[in-house]
Amino acid sequence: MSLNLPFPHRHLLGIAPLTAPEILFLLDEAERWVALNRAAAVKHDDSLAGLTQINAFFENSTRTLLSFEIAGKRLGADVVNMAVAQSSVKKGETLIDTAVTLDAMHADMLVIRHQASGAVQLIADKVDCPVLNAGDGQHEHPTQALLDALTIRRRKGRIERLVIAICGDIMHSRVARSDIISLQKLGAHVRIVGPSTLIPPHIEALGVEIFHDLDKAIAGADVVMMLRLQTERMAGGFIPSLREYHALFGLTVEKLKLAAEDVLVMHPGPLNRGVEIDSAVADDLKYSAITEQVEMGVAMRMACLDVLTRQRRGVKGWA
Ligand code: NCD
Repeated sequence: MSLNLPFPHRHLLGIAPLTAPEILFLLDEAERWVALNRAAAVKHDDSLAGLTQINAFFENSTRTLLSFEIAGKRLGADVVNMAVAQSSVKKGETLIDTAVTLDAMHADMLVIRHQASGAVQLIADKVDCPVLNAGDGQHEHPTQALLDALTIRRRKGRIERLVIAICGDIMHSRVARSDIISLQKLGAHVRIVGPSTLIPPHIEALGVEIFHDLDKAIAGADVVMMLRLQTERMAGGFIPSLREYHALFGLTVEKLKLAAEDVLVMHPGPLNRGVEIDSAVADDLKYSAITEQVEMGVAMRMACLDVLTRQRRGVKGWA
């Protein structure tokens, strides 16, 4: 693929391989789908008509799976969701055999979520079509980072120089990793905060400022992003109790007063209300962008599917 293209990548496996202009290109592309998604009735475009999109989610999902499905359908693709629970994966088929099988069906786009970090890359190496990472283990969740950046840019008008606090279970969060990488590339100042057991070692190498006190981390912040405790990835005692965690790291109306007056509150979902975030904060539309993040997710995924298939569709300038 020509390096002169605004997005010269075959796959979307993570934010780390992308440059700031490439990220901004995808955000700009998503902007034009936001209006289509808000149309009162028909929300359809035929760009991907005749193309087959397979969503293979080896891990649970509500938002990401539905939004990739809606995104593909709004662009006219034939979208198939592989039912992993009823698939041969349960009969011991290897990931590579599954990938080769999907490829033999001539999929034009594969959207993969997997519990193992690196699994999506493994699949991408074996197939012919573009692969989109919908979350691999604790590694990356690039479309979430893109939709978060889109939401912030729309609400704040910019990302450069914003102080963004990412709070909670940083250790197990691919969202945190992808967000940190993308927001820093776009010029934000990123703070992370959580109990020391939930801060990954060497994270300072990414250039973030580390806090263990929520009050200090959110003081003056323009954006406060809360994360769920990913207990399904915890084998052992990372926190003494949920009650104590909420007391120290839960976002309450009181604590939010420490942030900038026009602070934006974000959360990738699913929320554990009363643990990392109180309902009074999550549901206050003056601050909370949580449902807007979901809305932007569809536009962002439409942009990614469109851009990644331009070469195979022979779009002028891309083929
Ligand atoms: C996240 C995920 O699966 O990584 N959710 C999402 O995609 N919106 C975060 C989480 O599960 O807490």
